[in-house]
Amino acid sequence: MSTENYYYYEPAAGHGLAHDPLKSIIGPRPIGWISSVNSAGQRNLAPYSFFNCFSDRPPIIGFSSSGWKDSVANISETGEFVWNLATRPLAMAMNNSSATLPPEHDEFLFAGLTPRAGRRVDVDCVAESPVNFECKLTQCIQLTNADGATIDNWLVLGEVIAVHISNELINAEGIYQAMAAQPILRGGGPTAYYQVSDDLRFDLQRPEGTQPRK
Ligand SMILES: Cc1cc2nc3c(=O)[nH]c(=O)nc-3n(C[C@H](O)[C@H](O)[C@H](O)COP(=O)(O)O)c2cc1C
Repeated sequence: MSTENYYYYEPAAGHGLAHDPLKSIIGPRPIGWISSVNSAGQRNLAPYSFFNCFSDRPPIIGFSSSGWKDSVANISETGEFVWNLATRPLAMAMNNSSATLPPEHDEFLFAGLTPRAGRRVDVDCVAESPVNFECKLTQCIQLTNADGATIDNWLVLGEVIAVHISNELINAEGIYQAMAAQPILRGGGPTAYYQVSDDLRFDLQRPEGTQPRK
Protein backbone atom coordinates (compact mmCIF):
# COMPACT_ATOMS: atom_id res chain seq x y z
CA MET A 1 0.00 0.00 0.00
CA SER A 2 1.25 3.50 -0.74
CA THR A 3 1.86 5.97 2.10
CA GLU A 4 -1.39 7.90 1.46
CA ASN A 5 -3.30 4.78 2.56
CA TYR A 6 -1.89 5.20 6.06
CA TYR A 7 -2.78 7.52 8.92
CA TYR A 8 0.63 8.81 10.03
CA TYR A 9 1.73 10.50 13.23
CA GLU A 10 4.84 11.01 15.32
CA PRO A 11 4.01 10.25 18.98
CA ALA A 12 6.15 13.05 20.41
CA ALA A 13 3.85 15.53 18.61
CA GLY A 14 0.62 13.75 19.62
CA HIS A 15 -1.51 11.12 17.87
CA GLY A 16 -4.27 13.48 16.66
CA LEU A 17 -6.97 10.80 17.11
CA ALA A 18 -9.89 10.64 19.56
CA HIS A 19 -7.95 8.08 21.64
CA ASP A 20 -4.31 7.05 21.67
CA PRO A 21 -4.31 3.81 19.62
CA LEU A 22 -1.01 2.47 21.01
CA LYS A 23 -2.40 0.09 23.62
CA SER A 24 -5.10 -1.17 21.24
CA ILE A 25 -2.49 -1.88 18.56
CA ILE A 26 -0.06 -3.64 20.91
CA GLY A 27 -2.83 -5.75 22.33
CA PRO A 28 -4.49 -7.63 23.71
CA ARG A 29 -1.70 -8.03 26.24
CA PRO A 30 -1.16 -10.60 28.99
CA ILE A 31 -1.38 -9.22 32.50
CA GLY A 32 1.40 -9.21 35.04
CA TRP A 33 -0.54 -9.52 38.28
CA ILE A 34 2.29 -8.83 40.66
CA SER A 35 2.43 -9.45 44.39
CA SER A 36 5.23 -7.99 46.44
CA VAL A 37 6.01 -6.96 50.00
CA ASN A 38 7.93 -4.03 51.42
CA SER A 39 10.78 -4.33 53.92
CA ALA A 40 8.30 -3.75 56.79
CA GLY A 41 6.29 -6.80 55.63
CA GLN A 42 3.37 -4.87 54.09
CA ARG A 43 1.77 -6.87 51.27
CA ASN A 44 1.00 -5.37 47.87
CA LEU A 45 -0.77 -6.59 44.73
CA ALA A 46 -1.28 -4.80 41.39
CA PRO A 47 -1.84 -5.59 37.68
CA TYR A 48 0.58 -4.46 34.96
CA SER A 49 -0.27 -5.03 31.30
CA PHE A 50 3.11 -3.80 30.08
CA PHE A 51 4.17 -7.33 30.82
CA ASN A 52 5.70 -10.31 29.09
CA CYS A 53 8.19 -13.20 29.15
CA PHE A 54 11.67 -12.30 27.86
CA SER A 55 13.70 -15.47 28.30
CA ASP A 56 12.81 -19.15 28.55
CA ARG A 57 16.10 -20.59 29.90
CA PRO A 58 16.27 -19.36 32.54
CA PRO A 59 12.70 -18.08 32.55
CA ILE A 60 12.71 -14.29 32.92
CA ILE A 61 9.53 -12.21 33.02
CA GLY A 62 9.10 -8.49 33.35
CA PHE A 63 6.70 -5.60 33.68
CA SER A 64 6.99 -1.87 33.20
CA SER A 65 5.66 0.70 35.64
CA SER A 66 4.67 4.19 34.52
CA GLY A 67 6.13 5.95 37.55
CA TRP A 68 7.83 4.66 40.69
CA LYS A 69 4.83 2.74 42.02
CA ASP A 70 4.65 0.62 45.19
CA SER A 71 5.34 -2.64 43.31
CA VAL A 72 8.62 -1.29 41.93
CA ALA A 73 9.62 0.24 45.26
CA ASN A 74 8.91 -3.04 47.11
CA ILE A 75 10.70 -5.25 44.60
CA SER A 76 13.73 -2.95 44.61
CA GLU A 77 13.81 -3.22 48.40
CA THR A 78 13.37 -6.97 48.74
CA GLY A 79 14.54 -8.34 45.38
CA GLU A 80 11.49 -10.61 45.14
CA PHE A 81 8.03 -10.80 43.63
CA VAL A 82 5.32 -13.24 42.57
CA TRP A 83 3.41 -13.26 39.28
CA ASN A 84 -0.18 -14.56 39.44
CA LEU A 85 -2.25 -15.62 36.43
CA ALA A 86 -5.26 -13.32 35.97
CA THR A 87 -8.27 -15.39 34.92
CA ARG A 88 -11.88 -14.65 33.96
CA PRO A 89 -13.26 -15.64 37.41
CA LEU A 90 -10.66 -13.35 39.02
CA ALA A 91 -11.16 -10.38 36.66
CA MET A 92 -13.06 -8.24 39.15
CA ALA A 93 -10.58 -8.91 41.94
CA MET A 94 -7.65 -8.20 39.59
CA ASN A 95 -9.26 -4.90 38.61
CA ASN A 96 -9.96 -4.00 42.25
CA SER A 97 -6.32 -4.68 43.10
CA SER A 98 -5.34 -1.79 40.79
CA ALA A 99 -6.93 0.73 43.18
CA THR A 100 -4.53 3.46 44.23
CA LEU A 101 -4.21 2.77 47.93
CA PRO A 102 -1.64 4.13 50.38
CA PRO A 103 1.30 1.71 50.84
CA GLU A 104 -0.01 0.62 54.28
CA HIS A 105 -3.17 -0.88 52.67
CA ASP A 106 -3.21 -4.52 51.61
CA GLU A 107 -4.71 -5.03 48.12
CA PHE A 108 -5.22 -8.74 48.91
CA LEU A 109 -7.73 -7.76 51.61
CA PHE A 110 -9.18 -4.93 49.53
CA ALA A 111 -9.82 -7.28 46.58
CA GLY A 112 -11.09 -10.15 48.79
CA LEU A 113 -8.18 -12.46 47.93
CA THR A 114 -6.36 -15.02 50.04
CA PRO A 115 -2.58 -14.88 50.48
CA ARG A 116 -0.67 -18.18 50.29
CA ALA A 117 2.98 -18.12 51.35
CA GLY A 118 5.62 -18.50 48.67
CA ARG A 119 8.04 -21.42 49.06
CA ARG A 120 11.23 -19.79 47.78
CA VAL A 121 10.42 -16.09 48.29
CA ASP A 122 8.93 -14.20 51.24
CA VAL A 123 6.08 -12.93 49.07
CA ASP A 124 2.54 -14.27 49.08
CA CYS A 125 0.87 -15.84 46.05
CA VAL A 126 -2.79 -15.15 45.22
CA ALA A 127 -4.26 -18.46 46.45
CA GLU A 128 -7.29 -18.18 44.13
CA SER A 129 -5.08 -17.92 41.03
CA PRO A 130 -4.34 -21.29 39.35
CA VAL A 131 -0.75 -20.38 38.40
CA ASN A 132 1.88 -18.50 40.39
CA PHE A 133 5.54 -17.82 39.57
CA GLU A 134 7.93 -16.98 42.38
CA CYS A 135 10.56 -14.57 41.06
CA LYS A 136 13.88 -13.04 42.06
CA LEU A 137 14.67 -9.58 40.73
CA THR A 138 17.37 -9.64 38.05
CA GLN A 139 17.25 -6.02 36.82
CA CYS A 140 15.30 -2.84 37.54
CA ILE A 141 15.97 -0.54 34.62
CA GLN A 142 14.96 3.10 34.36
CA LEU A 143 13.99 3.60 30.70
CA THR A 144 15.36 6.38 28.52
CA ASN A 145 13.93 8.11 25.47
CA ALA A 146 15.64 8.14 22.07
CA ASP A 147 17.74 11.15 23.17
CA GLY A 148 19.09 9.15 26.10
CA ALA A 149 17.20 11.20 28.71
CA THR A 150 15.82 9.15 31.59
CA ILE A 151 12.03 8.91 31.76
CA ASP A 152 9.78 8.02 34.69
CA ASN A 153 9.18 4.44 33.51
CA TRP A 154 10.75 1.42 35.16
CA LEU A 155 11.25 -2.05 33.68
CA VAL A 156 11.39 -4.74 36.34
CA LEU A 157 12.78 -8.11 35.26
CA GLY A 158 12.91 -11.23 37.38
CA GLU A 159 13.96 -14.85 37.07
CA VAL A 160 11.18 -17.34 37.75
CA ILE A 161 12.65 -19.64 40.39
CA ALA A 162 9.52 -21.58 41.37
CA VAL A 163 6.29 -22.39 39.52
CA HIS A 164 2.93 -23.48 40.98
CA ILE A 165 0.32 -24.88 38.56
CA SER A 166 -3.07 -26.12 39.71
CA ASN A 167 -3.17 -29.89 39.05
CA GLU A 168 -6.50 -29.41 37.26
CA LEU A 169 -4.67 -27.60 34.45
CA ILE A 170 -2.28 -30.46 33.63
CA ASN A 171 -3.81 -33.29 31.58
CA ALA A 172 -2.96 -36.99 31.72
CA GLU A 173 -0.26 -36.53 29.02
CA GLY A 174 1.44 -33.85 31.14
CA ILE A 175 0.34 -30.95 28.93
CA TYR A 176 -0.66 -27.63 30.47
CA GLN A 177 -4.22 -26.76 29.44
CA ALA A 178 -3.84 -23.06 28.74
CA MET A 179 -7.46 -22.36 27.82
CA ALA A 180 -8.87 -24.24 30.80
CA ALA A 181 -7.25 -21.57 32.98
CA GLN A 182 -9.40 -18.90 31.24
CA PRO A 183 -6.59 -16.32 31.02
CA ILE A 184 -7.68 -12.74 30.40
CA LEU A 185 -5.91 -10.15 28.28
CA ARG A 186 -5.96 -6.37 28.38
CA GLY A 187 -7.20 -4.42 25.36
CA GLY A 188 -6.89 -0.70 24.66
CA GLY A 189 -9.06 2.04 26.15
CA PRO A 190 -10.06 2.29 29.79
CA THR A 191 -12.26 -0.81 30.00
CA ALA A 192 -11.45 -3.38 27.29
CA TYR A 193 -10.43 -6.94 28.13
CA TYR A 194 -10.46 -10.09 26.03
CA GLN A 195 -10.77 -13.80 26.59
CA VAL A 196 -9.27 -16.37 24.23
CA SER A 197 -10.64 -19.79 23.39
CA ASP A 198 -9.63 -23.00 21.62
CA ASP A 199 -12.09 -22.30 18.73
CA LEU A 200 -9.87 -19.36 17.70
CA ARG A 201 -6.66 -21.38 17.74
CA PHE A 202 -4.67 -22.08 14.56
CA ASP A 203 -1.37 -23.91 14.20
CA LEU A 204 1.70 -23.29 12.02
CA GLN A 205 4.82 -25.40 11.64
CA ARG A 206 7.99 -23.34 11.78
CA PRO A 207 10.26 -23.29 8.71
CA GLU A 208 12.72 -26.21 8.52
CA GLY A 209 15.58 -25.93 11.03
CA THR A 210 13.96 -23.32 13.27
CA GLN A 211 12.01 -25.48 15.68
CA PRO A 212 11.36 -23.95 19.10
CA ARG A 213 12.98 -25.60 22.12
CA LYS A 214 10.77 -28.03 24.01
C1 LIG B 1 -5.38 -4.36 33.71
C2 LIG B 1 -4.50 -3.26 34.23
C3 LIG B 1 -3.24 -3.12 33.69
C4 LIG B 1 -2.38 -2.11 34.16
N1 LIG B 1 -1.15 -1.99 33.60
C5 LIG B 1 -0.28 -1.07 34.08
C6 LIG B 1 1.02 -0.98 33.52
O1 LIG B 1 1.41 -1.72 32.62
N2 LIG B 1 1.85 -0.04 34.04
C7 LIG B 1 1.47 0.79 35.07
O2 LIG B 1 2.27 1.60 35.51
N3 LIG B 1 0.24 0.70 35.62
C8 LIG B 1 -0.65 -0.20 35.15
N4 LIG B 1 -1.90 -0.30 35.70
C9 LIG B 1 -2.24 0.54 36.84
C10 LIG B 1 -1.69 -0.03 38.15
O3 LIG B 1 -2.24 -1.33 38.40
C11 LIG B 1 -2.08 0.91 39.33
O4 LIG B 1 -1.42 2.15 39.16
C12 LIG B 1 -1.77 0.33 40.68
O5 LIG B 1 -2.35 1.14 41.69
C13 LIG B 1 -0.29 0.23 40.95
O6 LIG B 1 -0.16 -0.38 42.19
P1 LIG B 1 1.13 -0.30 43.09
O7 LIG B 1 1.43 1.17 43.36
O8 LIG B 1 0.68 -1.02 44.34
O9 LIG B 1 2.25 -1.00 42.39
C14 LIG B 1 -2.80 -1.25 35.21
C15 LIG B 1 -4.10 -1.40 35.75
C16 LIG B 1 -4.93 -2.39 35.26
C17 LIG B 1 -6.32 -2.54 35.83
